[in-house]
Amino acid sequence: MAESTTALHNLRAAFPALQDGLCFLDWASTGLLPLPAQVALTEFLAACGRCDSADSTWMHGAGATTRNALRALIAQRLQANPRDIGLLENTTAGLNAAASALRLQHGDNVILGEIDYLAVAMPWRHRARRDGLELRFVPARAGRIEAADVLERIDERTRVVALSTICWTSGALTDLAAIARETRMRGIHLIVDATQTFGLLPLDTRSVPAQFIACGGHKWLLGTLGQGFLWVHPECAARHQPPFVGFLSGTPAQGQWPDWFSSASSSLHDEVMVPSTARAFESGGTPNYAGAITLLAALRLLDTVPQDELVAHVRTLGTQLIDGLQSRGFTVLTPTEPTARAGIVVFQGGGEAAEKTLVAALRSQRIACAVRYAGGVGGVRISLHGPNNAADVARLLAALPQR
Ligand SMILES: Cc1ncc(COP(=O)(O)O)c(C=O)c1O
Repeated sequence: MAESTTALHNLRAAFPALQDGLCFLDWASTGLLPLPAQVALTEFLAACGRCDSADSTWMHGAGATTRNALRALIAQRLQANPRDIGLLENTTAGLNAAASALRLQHGDNVILGEIDYLAVAMPWRHRARRDGLELRFVPARAGRIEAADVLERIDERTRVVALSTICWTSGALTDLAAIARETRMRGIHLIVDATQTFGLLPLDTRSVPAQFIACGGHKWLLGTLGQGFLWVHPECAARHQPPFVGFLSGTPAQGQWPDWFSSASSSLHDEVMVPSTARAFESGGTPNYAGAITLLAALRLLDTVPQDELVAHVRTLGTQLIDGLQSRGFTVLTPTEPTARAGIVVFQGGGEAAEKTLVAALRSQRIACAVRYAGGVGGVRISLHGPNNAADVARLLAALPQR
């Protein structure tokens, strides 16, 4: 049984719905918003309604400070430099920015996972049609994308490998460190979607030397919808520019934006200094300050639990769940070895229709989970995070039939 430490206990206490009968096991879809994040967002919205200083653009200054603090906290979790973090709306925006920045030629190939999320594949299907690229899909074996299968498909025309950290419909981690060693050595761009693990598992950019890491904030990072990030390797940012540009990614050649906007001598022909860093990959227009404020508060809360403790706790809950599922006769798709999984556990409940009925029945008992499939791989997806405890797992197991 998983033991909750004080830090984990306090984390759970930040989700009143969990004390109020909700058994929430669906962080992989959309996480719950913790109280400190709700408070921070509410305060911001109230301030937007008051306009205390009578300067209607006050939020740009305050927002820049918040966004810098958020970049710093994200960077800490990546063992990276805050300068290499761009704050973007979601994973899709990051993956598209990455895909559109790379210079590729007709006949180059891109390697993708057959059961990956749509957001990873769609930008490349678009570029393949437009630019004549070859897409090589790596099939899954028992719900896993094996590093050896990825490496086997690499040849002299491979320019990109784009993969998620985990298979979102099986819960099997992909060995990105092994893939990154090879892509780094061969000068191939590695693009990583970390959305389904970041916030629970650490991702060290020194052991996974990717070129881009895209992530959304509303699942394991406990933020609200519409605030994610894109980490860009500094060498890559220096070499590749996105095909779009926005003023807030840079500064005017003289002074700051408030000076430029209020100066009678400003002109559209003035130089805008956009750094060759991850900032250039942001939209450069007025950003989602509400999302940044909320995600910052959520991350500060998440940071109160030591990383090792968080991971060990969730993996112990996963083991409790897998054992219980197997003893009830269910087939579990997720690897049983704790280090081969993160927070997602998927089991087969007799096919799509039966699984949808089962999940609907669970939801009617206030047990939240989902049915998810990709390329025929999937089933009932349970996702466990730090705020969960052993009683949540026991409650789910007690609600399941014997097979
Ligand atoms: C692997 C993966 N990537 C990305 C996303 C979400 O993408 P976005 O942040 O663009 O909504 C999901 C959502 O389920 C996912 O499972």
